[in-house]
Amino acid sequence: MLSRALRPREARASVAAGHDADATQAFAHDLRAALASQPRRISPKYFYDARGSALFDQICELPEYYPTRTESAILRSRAGEIAAQMGPKAEIVEFGAGSCTKVRVLLDAMQAPARYLPIDISGDHLDAAAAGLRKDYPGLDVQPVAADYTQRLLLPAPVRGAGQRVGFFPGSTIGNFTPAEALHFLRTAAQVLRGGALLLGADLVKDPAVLHAAYNDAQGVTAAFNLNLLVRANQELGCDFDLSQFAHHAFYNAPLQRIEMHLISRCRQKVRVGDEVFEFAEGETLHTENSHKFTIDGLRALAAQAGFAPGPVWTDPGRLFSVHWLHAPQ
Ligand code: AVJ
Repeated sequence: MLSRALRPREARASVAAGHDADATQAFAHDLRAALASQPRRISPKYFYDARGSALFDQICELPEYYPTRTESAILRSRAGEIAAQMGPKAEIVEFGAGSCTKVRVLLDAMQAPARYLPIDISGDHLDAAAAGLRKDYPGLDVQPVAADYTQRLLLPAPVRGAGQRVGFFPGSTIGNFTPAEALHFLRTAAQVLRGGALLLGADLVKDPAVLHAAYNDAQGVTAAFNLNLLVRANQELGCDFDLSQFAHHAFYNAPLQRIEMHLISRCRQKVRVGDEVFEFAEGETLHTENSHKFTIDGLRALAAQAGFAPGPVWTDPGRLFSVHWLHAPQ
């Protein structure tokens, strides 16, 4: 439970930040749990307040961060083939749709897209994005779903006479999951997409130097994104993290095929979360994100384990990134 003293400040901060008190409470709970556990780790979903989302948008534009532009290039050049897989009157369910921009290249290529169901935790963001889409695609039924797609997936029933239901999970967001969580997500997706398919973007295993650069950019945007977790904790939960005493630390863990991001304590120090105090030793870290990398065969095997029948795969000439068409079972 939160201390009573914390609640009014939380309530104000939440209203100002545009999300509800439940979300703030969940953050407080998860941060305490993270700091009380060993090793210390917290979900990367807490990066994404308004500032964190803006920093992530900046990351996507960085010269070192290849995934976003590589995936868009694949989608753009293969939109015709992808649309052919979808067939007429398909509906798209996007997991973690954010500003709903990536789907446009698909909608532009599709034959009479029937409906678009963007799912995202941030409802406000989603409604604004949905309004923009309705304007640009007058025949499209856009029904935003404000939900955490990692928790539960309750979707409107498929429309009668519609084409297939296609899940869209771009950006290699699947890489944020542990392999067990990824399998769980894929199994759930297979259920809601029954008889349809999943269009999935997955970042590929590659030269560690390329990976390292992508998560340690020269301008320090990724560092600011990582540290934003502490900025948020100070603003929303009234914590007292000294931002000058934590550093961004990102490296490729080759045996586990993942980039790990940590916030590393530059000195021995104490931090307060509500009425609790936690100590950091010098060099001790809070593990903030895993970004798993895949081989094409590894991803297809994972999808098959979840019940999908792997279909076509599209990649870029440099083999940096992959986009998979996965048939969902009936
Ligand atoms: C949004 C999870 C795909 O893992 O590359 C970017 C997030 N973290 N830079 C990724 C991220 C640091 C990104 N994903």
